[in-house]
Amino acid sequence: MTVRGCAMTGWGTALPERVVTNADIMTLFDTSDEWIVERSGISTRRAAAGPFVADTPPHHPPAGLGTTGQLAVAAGREAMAAAGVDGSGIGLVILCTTTPDQLIPASSAAVSSALGIAGGAMDLNAACAGFTYGLVTASGMVSAGVDRVLLIGAETLTRATNWDDRTNAFLFGDGAGAVVVEATPGETSLLGWDLGVDGSQVSILYADHGSGMVMKGQEVFRRAVRATVASAGLSLERAKVGVDDIALFVPHQANIRIMDAVADRLGLPKEKIASVIDHTGNTSSASIPLALVDAAQSGRLVDGDLILLAGFGAGMTWASAVWRWGH
Ligand code: UT7
Repeated sequence: MTVRGCAMTGWGTALPERVVTNADIMTLFDTSDEWIVERSGISTRRAAAGPFVADTPPHHPPAGLGTTGQLAVAAGREAMAAAGVDGSGIGLVILCTTTPDQLIPASSAAVSSALGIAGGAMDLNAACAGFTYGLVTASGMVSAGVDRVLLIGAETLTRATNWDDRTNAFLFGDGAGAVVVEATPGETSLLGWDLGVDGSQVSILYADHGSGMVMKGQEVFRRAVRATVASAGLSLERAKVGVDDIALFVPHQANIRIMDAVADRLGLPKEKIASVIDHTGNTSSASIPLALVDAAQSGRLVDGDLILLAGFGAGMTWASAVWRWGH
């Protein structure tokens, strides 16, 4: 039997222009730069909407990086260029997002059209675990016969933030990251994975139609650490590798304290954590690809390196994967 492997062959990112500082946040409610940095590790985030940006309806956007779709297109275009492929070579777009531009249709439809993609397109909403859910799905589609999947995590969380809620409004930011997952001869790069959800925990983090996010921060924090550690342990076990074999840990960038606590419990040194949270904030589905691409572009990865990805989020969802870098 011919083994059909897969690899990441291109990657890219996009961020809206507007930088929102903690000083900006301090104009909204009673807080401080010291408190936000100490409790979350966030100094700045990028915003496509919200109180610091002249807003436009998401489905009638101007040119730019103001919508989830536009951010996805920009990151996707960069990833395709890096992989040396145009739209005719992409068999499927998976757009991981929890903030689509419209209820109907899926935002991936417009993204696919803008990028001239020949194949199918779908949105995937697994909240902040979305990109890792998407990576497992993309790998499965490559095994099933698709030659190249464009996998994108893109969000405009600033459209779903409750800007009056000082307990969490400072956390969120906008952005996108994308990778091309491509069929290769040989073994798959997805060595082990775990996907999960506990739907009895919907009430700890949700947003109803037309209203901002509601989050019980401490509840989410506690459960996030526990679920991420357990899931990562399963992925390592299924990949038949030890934690010391991991060269880079790419966690969901929700809060530096959660990232540190998970790494610590897994026995991973802080130097192995990929972190962009100080200047992106929590970008949900976009956070793992933003951190991964940052690590790749800054030369932290060499072919053969094992990467552990792990996310968790509203649902409550969780997902982890052990991935072999290079091809
Ligand atoms: O990505 C998906 C999931 N989301 C997350 O992973 C977020 C998980 N949760 C968290 O990251 C943290 O719970 C937060 C960063 C949201 C909050 O940090 P915390 O250490 O859990 O703070 P807390 O809610 O326990 O609040 C501590 C204190 C409270 O005062 P008292 O009761 O101790 O007097 C709050 O009233 O900090 C107060 N506080 C603030 N102070 C200054 C709450 N918000 C603020 C604020 N500025 N913005």
